[in-house]
Parts: sequence; C-alpha cells; structure tokens
Amino acid sequence: MKIVMVASEARPFCKTGGLADVVYSLSKELAVLGEDVSIILPFYDSVRRQLVNEPLKKAASFNTHMSWRKQTVDVYQVKRDGINYFLIENRQYFERGHIYGDFDDGERFAFFAMAVKEFLLTKSLYPSIIHVHDWQAGMLPCLLKTDAICHKKFAKTKFVFTIHNPAFQGMMPKFTLGDFYNLSDDLFDNGSVRFNDQVSTLKAGIVYSDKITTVSPTHHLELLTPEGGMGLDTILRYREWDFCGILNGIDYLEFNPNSDQQIAMPYTEDKLVSAKKANRETLMRQFNLKNNSKGPLFSLVTRITWQKGFDIIFPAIEDLVNRGASIFMLGSGESQYEQRWEELRKKYPDRIGLYIGHSDALAHKVYAASDFFIMPSLFEPCGLGQMIAQRYGTLPIVRRTGGLKDSVICYNGNNAETSNGFGFDAYSVEEMKRTANYAYDVYQDKKLLHRLMKNAMLTDNSWQKSTQEYLKLYNQLIK
Ligand code: GLC
Repeated sequence: MKIVMVASEARPFCKTGGLADVVYSLSKELAVLGEDVSIILPFYDSVRRQLVNEPLKKAASFNTHMSWRKQTVDVYQVKRDGINYFLIENRQYFERGHIYGDFDDGERFAFFAMAVKEFLLTKSLYPSIIHVHDWQAGMLPCLLKTDAICHKKFAKTKFVFTIHNPAFQGMMPKFTLGDFYNLSDDLFDNGSVRFNDQVSTLKAGIVYSDKITTVSPTHHLELLTPEGGMGLDTILRYREWDFCGILNGIDYLEFNPNSDQQIAMPYTEDKLVSAKKANRETLMRQFNLKNNSKGPLFSLVTRITWQKGFDIIFPAIEDLVNRGASIFMLGSGESQYEQRWEELRKKYPDRIGLYIGHSDALAHKVYAASDFFIMPSLFEPCGLGQMIAQRYGTLPIVRRTGGLKDSVICYNGNNAETSNGFGFDAYSVEEMKRTANYAYDVYQDKKLLHRLMKNAMLTDNSWQKSTQEYLKLYNQLIK
C-alpha cells in the first residue's frame, strides 16, 4: 500500500514536540511491515544544516499559485529508515531559524498545503492513503476533494486526519480562503471550514477526511464532550462514526535502557537499582547538585507551556524540596514559567537542576537517573514522556487525562502487582501535592518502589500494536 504522510515536523529532521516522533515512528514501523511510506515536510533551514554533506536528489520543480503570489518550488528527496522524505523548499517561508511562532504561520503552512497538492499532481502520485497531521496540513483533503481535476485523479485515495493537539486550530480570517488557497467563499458561507467565524484548517481536516483519529482512546472520548472538546465537540460528534483514538507508542530502539549509549550505566530491570544510583550520581555531578540519596529525584522533560500543568507543579516543587527531594527540569518554552524555574534554582541551587533548552542526549540521562517523572497535564492527547519514563523504570506522576490515563496504571495501595505510576484526577495544587507526597512515601519502602519500577520497565509501550490499528483503519478504507 502506498501511504503518504503530510506533517509540519518529523524526526530525524525537525522536531519541536511529540508530533515529530509519532510521524516518524509510525512511518518507520509501517515501512518495516513492507508498506511504501513517504513523508512530506517543509525544508526548514535546520533540515538543510543536517543535510549539508549529502547529495540531494531533486524530486520535482513547479510553480505554486496562491492567488496573486507565484512561487517557484523545488522538492528534494532523501531516504531514511526505509521512508522517502520529500522536502518542500521555499526559503522565504521556511528559513526562519525556527519552525513556528511567526505572524504569518497561517500563510506559511497554507503555502505548504498548496505546494504538497501541486507536488502530488506533478509527480502523478496518487497514493492509497494520504495521512494528514494537525492544523498545518489540515487543509489538504479539502484542497484535493473540492478541485474538479484532483477529485478525479485522487478518486481512489483515502484521507486520514490525526489530531495531535486540538488547542491549535489553524484559525485565519475568511479572506484567506481565496487569498491563500484559491478557494471560494462558499466553503465559509456554507459552514464547511467555518469555526468561530474564522476559517479553521483543523475543522477542514475533520470535515473533509475519510477517517479522523486522535492519539489516545480517552482523548477521543474527551474530544466528543463540550468540556474537553475545545469547541470541536459538535463537529466531531457529527463525524463520530469515522472518529477513533489510537494510542501512540514510543521508539523502542531509541529508548532502550539496556543499549543506551547516552547514559552512564545501561541496564535491564535486574540491574535497575545499581544503575539508577550510578546514573543519578553522574547527572548530579554534571549539574553540581548535592547527591542526597535519602531523597528521591523527581524530573520533568517537557515543552514549558500551560498545557503541561505548570500552575500546579510549582507549589508542589517547593514542598518536595523542603522534604528532601531533588528536582531536575529539562525543557524550554513560555518565558514566565522559565523565569520561575530560574528563581527556584537560585533559591535551591544544590537541589534543583535546570536545563532550559532542548537536548535529546540529556533527556536520556534524566530519564535514566530519576525515580519519578512529573507530568500533571491540564490536557494531554497522548503524551510520550510518561511512556519513556516507564521504559527507564522511572515512575510517572500524572493527572489522569487523555493518553496519561490510558498509559499509567496508578498505584493505590492495593495493586503493586500491576501498577506502573501514580495519578490523580482533579486539576488542583492539593491533588498534585498529595500525589507527589504519596510517591515520596513509597520511595521509603524500597521493596515496593522497585516492584513498581520493574512493572514500569516491563510495560509494553512499543509501536507494534498501534501500527496494526492504523493498518486496520487504512485497510478498512481502501477495501
Ligand atoms: C501533541 C500532544 C501530545 C502527543 C503528541 C504526539 O504534542 O500534545 O499529547 O503525545 O502530540 O501525538
């Protein structure tokens, strides 16, 4: 089966969050199963830097018209892990030193969708499945289905749209339909792409795709409710028969504590205790932290954004430090939260370690060194950090929302045989503190602690199961 993924980021070339991991890992797994998989991405400057020493193959050259704008587009091709990557080049839109955050993001990704359409036509690439991810690519099914020529050429192609983050809805003023997409205002006036009186590319993805998925079964249910739907519940209920949740996995080759070259002491569950100790010592030394082994090490590896629960994290951090814990935080994002972390570090310099930025290598070290992983998200479509933590025998402390609920079996005093983390339901400082302190209490009971850590390490968070579910969905569509 020919499958084309369209997304704004994918490893190993560009990543700001879990989207990049998922697009890559799923594609890789599909390729292993013998499927013919391509990923179409923007050719960002960061991608170019990674490919400087590689002869690039030009896959196509064409013009893209966005009403009065005429752009010449070159598309380059590279192969990684059995996946064909097609990189859409446009220096003006994609060479900005970063992936998102510009005033014209709407226009930049509209260009991306328009160029992808043109590319598929130029190459006569009419795959069985076009799998589109999030708002940046959300308009593509609409572009191909409402255009008379494309409609015929893509008659056999089916569209799957995955919502990774419903908080980003691709909102743009009405005029952009014509100005960016060469589409008629009718699509706005008849409601097809209209959402809160603007154009929403996320809504367009939902309306025009054959199947819609999100990244966990619980988030699927949440999105169908007024409380958890972020305004999309009505339209998603309208598409309810074609909407489902498939839990993400993590890359078991990248995250394997037993063969991990990044960490001081690799380990299996039998060596867990001594390895955690050694990995912790190394991390503590590297960041000049006092290695008080009587207290646990709590960590976070995250995008620093309101979604991740920082409002309830900060008060709990001080509590834990005062009780004897150490904390390590790796991430970057919203500056008000970054500043609060800096203040906390100043207050407790030998107990709180901080790395504001992005480092895959350090992330591995942190997962391997820690006892607990803090992730009390306000909402979390899936979340990958909690699964990586489990793989390294680090017990996640989560708020039971979205994929966190689906992937963590919370210890409740009676389920030591099966549990692999801690959790609470209400989004409140009290619950966060209570649960973190409960985890701290368990830390004192080493037999229990190690039992739970082993359970976590043995949890199956691999991609195999989820890939089968995607394949089933694709096959249902093309039969
Ligand atoms: C988004 C979601 C996260 C999910 C990831 C990959 O970043 O916020 O929960 O794990 O996409 O699907």
